[in-house]
Amino acid sequence: MGYSDVYAEANADPDGFWMNAAEAIDWVTPPTKALTDDNAPLYEWFTDGTLNACWNAVDRHVEAGHGERIAIIHDSPITHSKHEISYSELRDHVASLAGALRAKGVEKGDRVIIYMPMVPEALEAMLACSRLGAIHSVVFGGFAANELAVRIDDCQPKCIIAASCGLEPGRVVHYKPLLDGAIEQASHKPDFCVIFQREQEVAHLEEGRDVDWHAFQYGVEPADCVPVAGNHPHYILYTSGTTGQPKGVIRHTGGHMVALNWSMRNLYDMNPGEVFWAASDVGWVVGHSYICYAPLTFGCTTIVFEGKPVGTPDAGTFWRVIQDHNVKCLFTAPTALRAVKREDPQGALIGDYDISCLESLFLAGERADPDTIIWAQDKLGVPVVDHWWQTETGWCIAGNPLGIERLPIKIGSPSVPMPGYDVQILDEGGHPVADGELGAIAIKLPLPPGTLPTLWNAEARFRKSYLDHFPGYYETGDAGYKDEDGYLYIMARTDDVINVAGHRLSTGAMEEVLASHPDVAECAVIGVADQLKGQMPMGFLCLNAGTQKSAEDVVAECVKLVREKIGPVAAFKLATVVQRLPKTRSGKILRGTMVNIADGKDYKMPATIDDPAILDEITEALKELGYPK
Ligand code: COA
Ligand code: AMP
Repeated sequence: MGYSDVYAEANADPDGFWMNAAEAIDWVTPPTKALTDDNAPLYEWFTDGTLNACWNAVDRHVEAGHGERIAIIHDSPITHSKHEISYSELRDHVASLAGALRAKGVEKGDRVIIYMPMVPEALEAMLACSRLGAIHSVVFGGFAANELAVRIDDCQPKCIIAASCGLEPGRVVHYKPLLDGAIEQASHKPDFCVIFQREQEVAHLEEGRDVDWHAFQYGVEPADCVPVAGNHPHYILYTSGTTGQPKGVIRHTGGHMVALNWSMRNLYDMNPGEVFWAASDVGWVVGHSYICYAPLTFGCTTIVFEGKPVGTPDAGTFWRVIQDHNVKCLFTAPTALRAVKREDPQGALIGDYDISCLESLFLAGERADPDTIIWAQDKLGVPVVDHWWQTETGWCIAGNPLGIERLPIKIGSPSVPMPGYDVQILDEGGHPVADGELGAIAIKLPLPPGTLPTLWNAEARFRKSYLDHFPGYYETGDAGYKDEDGYLYIMARTDDVINVAGHRLSTGAMEEVLASHPDVAECAVIGVADQLKGQMPMGFLCLNAGTQKSAEDVVAECVKLVREKIGPVAAFKLATVVQRLPKTRSGKILRGTMVNIADGKDYKMPATIDDPAILDEITEALKELGYPK
């Protein structure tokens, strides 16, 4: 069957299609039906089945006689080390960790925050929670204490599992003081913390609260897998919205397992036993789905890579990892390739390695620019597949399903919708537009298995953010168009979310931090185009009358404040002081117009602008910052 047939089948008989896919998963009690729609527009999948995610990702492969197969390869150019963990070793580690967590009171439904760098123990921590039916929430290491505190208060974890430190090129990230600071700030206090001491930095343990990762496992009974319902929340992953309060995306266990497992063969064209490498971070959705759960559930070997595309030690690192570990499929963000291409434009370092094992390269996380795709196609000689998805969906919305049929690649498009996604381009009134016309991208409900059923403790926000604008649809927040062959083109966000080096960030959250500076009266943050990172945040600050400080000092303090409050990952380094912000007569800041000026694009003078002269002031301020580039 080709792509069109598979897509049509999923559309015509979703229940049959996904029940069939569900057979590839181990159930304790198989579901009797796929979709539950009595609470529409909220939907659930595999509600009446019971299963365990850790069993599917780990134990079942050992039971099937593949215990010696390598589950995880840790490759860390930062610490100059490599090591492998087999499926049976992984099962033992995870059962022991889960046993220790259980002995300290962690049970099904309890939340556990995980704050760890790219070490295999991060996956073990996730899997140990899954084993118990505890709900993990991984927080990316590049976030500061304040962001961690917000998540602690929102999901109220019984336990936090953290490493003593993370390692960035040239600097140790001191996780433990960040963790201590976050717990101090948060109103909710976890019962205990488990600290994985790395040899690069041994952290002080707080008497009575912190336990050592190894020591607390001593002598405990390993835990078996606890069956949970198909609609049991497997994890919560916070993502940026329009405000400083992140959205807690929930993933239900049954649909998650089924969809990810389906995607490994049909989208990524993998077979069990082969090596899959997602060069992302466990703190992002790509890491959850394609470093941890999908490759393991499907019985592949996954790589946990602690390094960067460049500088660890050079732009040949990716090719070295592919060669050393026989990688069949690489998944990364376009920004990583742009970084490599910038250092090694001719791709000379590729020739130093034998990467004939590589059969495909998948890109996601941000728009893949044609130059980067063409460079990669040319230098690697494998299909370069752009695919589009979001934290909310957990897996691909549109892509080129190499395992079903290799569709023609159209550069600039992430290709076609995956089965179960009915993607429509809508006008403001919610009516589908003609092919080639730009509109809001929406997905007809229900979304397929594996996607978010709602937000953690925030159903009203879920409805408001995603369902209310276009009744009957999920609003993606992206704008774009479809061509006459049904290929999608993702052009821009329709909200205040920006994408910096493949990291999703909220300009609204940065504005909240800037506004808290005592000398800032008003501010705006926009995303300006950046050759390497795709976008970079840029702040415009209006100061209070009578401020004693110089503009330079306030800018420097604001840059520091965003780093302290949100974290280094915000990459907030550009800001300028202006007298006024351009606004509509009703007071809405004209951010889109500011972006066009900064990017050197033509723009129409907004008809509703209050005072057009302010745009000249903004143009001048941008010129001083060197924009447009
Ligand atoms: N822990 C702590 N700090 C982190 C971090 C982590 N896990 N990840 C990033 N940071 C810090 C960086 O050290 C940097 O700090 P600095 O301002 O002191 O230099 C800052 O956050 C910004 O990081 P980043 O935007 O990633 O820029 P970079 O200059 O370090 O690296 C790239 C640039 C392109 C090489 C890098 O962004 C990259 O590899 N991107 C791929 C993105 C990706 O995989 N995204 C996942 C979606 S698929
Ligand atoms: P995240 O939730 O961090 O995965 O970010 C999701 C957002 O990143 C999407 O809503 C898009 O704006 C953008 N994005 C992800 N993948 C792509 C892609 N292949 N092409 C264009 N934009 C993308």
